[in-house]
Amino acid sequence: MNFIKVNTYEELSSRAAAIICGQVALKPKCVLGLATGSSPLGTYEKIAEKNRAGEIDFSKVKTINLDEYVGLSGDHEQSYRYFMNNNLFKHINIDIDNTYVPNGCATDIEAECKAYDSLIEDLGGIDLQLLGIGYDGHIGFNEPDTYFEKATHMVTLDSSTIEANSRFFASRNDVPVTAITMGMGGIMSAKRVLLIANGKGKRDIIEKAFFGPITPALPASILQLHPNLTVIYSEN
Ligand code: GLP
Repeated sequence: MNFIKVNTYEELSSRAAAIICGQVALKPKCVLGLATGSSPLGTYEKIAEKNRAGEIDFSKVKTINLDEYVGLSGDHEQSYRYFMNNNLFKHINIDIDNTYVPNGCATDIEAECKAYDSLIEDLGGIDLQLLGIGYDGHIGFNEPDTYFEKATHMVTLDSSTIEANSRFFASRNDVPVTAITMGMGGIMSAKRVLLIANGKGKRDIIEKAFFGPITPALPASILQLHPNLTVIYSEN
């Protein structure tokens, strides 16, 4: 594991953007696994800046996102499709048809999950997976459990996750209680994983996840077994 501690969110975002753009420069037709949440916002801004400056080309890149709330359509402001379109895709020269987010409004959620795993395979796997981490150690929406779930699946969100994510919604009751998430199989099969976290509040979970025992009770801890993992953490 490559654990990088930086001093500011700005530095975290610059370093993460440099790694992602480095991946695209190395393999212009690469597949990027992308994440939502507040942590990647700075990274996405830096990527857009580089793209605008003509430093990096996304025209051949494909992206696949980690998760989506069940019941929110892509035009719902709190859906992850909406988040990705507005915070990244519309600011870079990517072909929107090459961007994938699970369909939270699929009539058959189980079939949608299966199709998502087939899609990862059809794309030839993920070259670089970007991750954030929840306060309970979740990655994507893989919540603490008694086992690591391999396939893309539907989850019931922990109340702490609903609480944490309620800051984006009008009220706690508006937060969907279920979501589709890529499983640990998809995440762990990425050739490279980049996890970013910031804030003093994440220090404890970062320490436990990357320097404590590997356990499904703390889903991110499985990343200790990934052969190419970079963690960037800024306390501020
Ligand atoms: C959500 C997302 C996760 C993300 C987490 C942390 O639950 N599903 O992928 O890592 O939030 O978000 P933040 O970066 O806002 O702390």
